[in-house]
Amino acid sequence: MIFVTGATGNVGREVLAQLTAAGVPVRGLSRTAGADLDDPASLRPALEGVRAVFLLPGYRDMRGLAAEFAAAGVERVVLLSSQAAVATDSANAVSAYMIDSETAVRESGLAWTFLRPAAFMSNTLRWLPQLRAGDVVSDAFGDVPIASIDPADIAAVAVKALLEPAHEGRAYSLSGPEALLPAERLHILGRALDRDLRFEALTDEEAWTRMSATTPIAYVQAFFSFYRGHIIDETTVHPTVENLTGRPPRTFTQWATTHAPPHSERNLRDQDARRTAAAVIIAPPGTAGVSATTSGSAHIDNPAPGRFHEALGPALITAGPAPTASHVPWRAGPPGSGWPRPGGPSAPPRARGTCAPTR
Ligand SMILES: NC(=O)c1ccc[n+]([C@@H]2O[C@H](COP(=O)([O-])OP(=O)(O)OC[C@H]3O[C@@H](n4cnc5c(N)ncnc54)[C@H](OP(=O)(O)O)[C@@H]3O)[C@@H](O)[C@H]2O)c1
Repeated sequence: MIFVTGATGNVGREVLAQLTAAGVPVRGLSRTAGADLDDPASLRPALEGVRAVFLLPGYRDMRGLAAEFAAAGVERVVLLSSQAAVATDSANAVSAYMIDSETAVRESGLAWTFLRPAAFMSNTLRWLPQLRAGDVVSDAFGDVPIASIDPADIAAVAVKALLEPAHEGRAYSLSGPEALLPAERLHILGRALDRDLRFEALTDEEAWTRMSATTPIAYVQAFFSFYRGHIIDETTVHPTVENLTGRPPRTFTQWATTHAPPHSERNLRDQDARRTAAAVIIAPPGTAGVSATTSGSAHIDNPAPGRFHEALGPALITAGPAPTASHVPWRAGPPGSGWPRPGGPSAPPRARGTCAPTR
């Protein structure tokens, strides 16, 4: 049994879907049944029979989580980390919690693999409020090209690492196939949405003001140190996805097309079928901490395909439950990428309901 945390998120839902498609027994974690990664003991019932874990970083007690895994007989952890862990600047709030998460897993005695992706293509969903309001999108760091990666490709590598011992003890830098400026991503998105979209780069002063309004200052500083202090390299294209999966990483055009409006009835049917197939969570009946019904399985919303359309236009997709707060893609705030989770080891306190980045 493989345990997937963040199973409703951009990466986790892809891991869940790909493992399910491969016929691997999988259990997905959602907080709906009371389990919380910030409370390691709450995971105990969900860990029964688990041999490998796909783990998100930055929770309150990463050492406690690793200890629970070890006690439950887990053998292998695949940690979703970040290029921020390579930056090795522990004064940077994001790097600090990524490094802390890697250290906790490394020191746990469990076999580990670290995935260190560049910014996710799904961070583009952050533009949704502006796209709803008009055809102009403004954002910070307009001069920084990023080789962003499709969460589906991160998941493909994660699946390999979860299933194959050859990846133990390896830390993989992951990127998409090309480095693009925000304006270039917006242009591609405009083509996919059939809209004439225009990018406006914020000055650094404007960016600081906008980010500070929704994000703890330590994270605003972290972003400026990444993209103005140049302590992170998210521009380099890494061959890892192709080396490990045997196929090139998905382009931003592919991502945008996948998440743009469905163009035909056939696409709609395909989406529904894919969503249903991808969304099964297998769990013992009534298992606490697993979003399962008493019948032993449940469907979670899998809003990946057509998310732009769902958010921008009429709800063409009718199957499946309504999105929950965790699926609302535009909650992430600051520019560049969807950095870090609130509540991580180094995360400053954050008022409820504010927008924090989700990297
Ligand atoms: N965005 C980037 O560019 C980037 C780059 C590198 C690394 N990362 C890292 O990647 C992680 C995953 O990103 P994503 O985009 O896949 O995430 P996401 O779409 O924001 O989803 C977050 C997931 O985490 C779950 N979650 C949040 N708090 C939890 C808690 N206390 N206990 C249990 N589950 C909890 C949510 O579950 P619910 O359904 O219960 O809310 C959801 O499934 C980020 O958290 C970040 O640390 C991001």
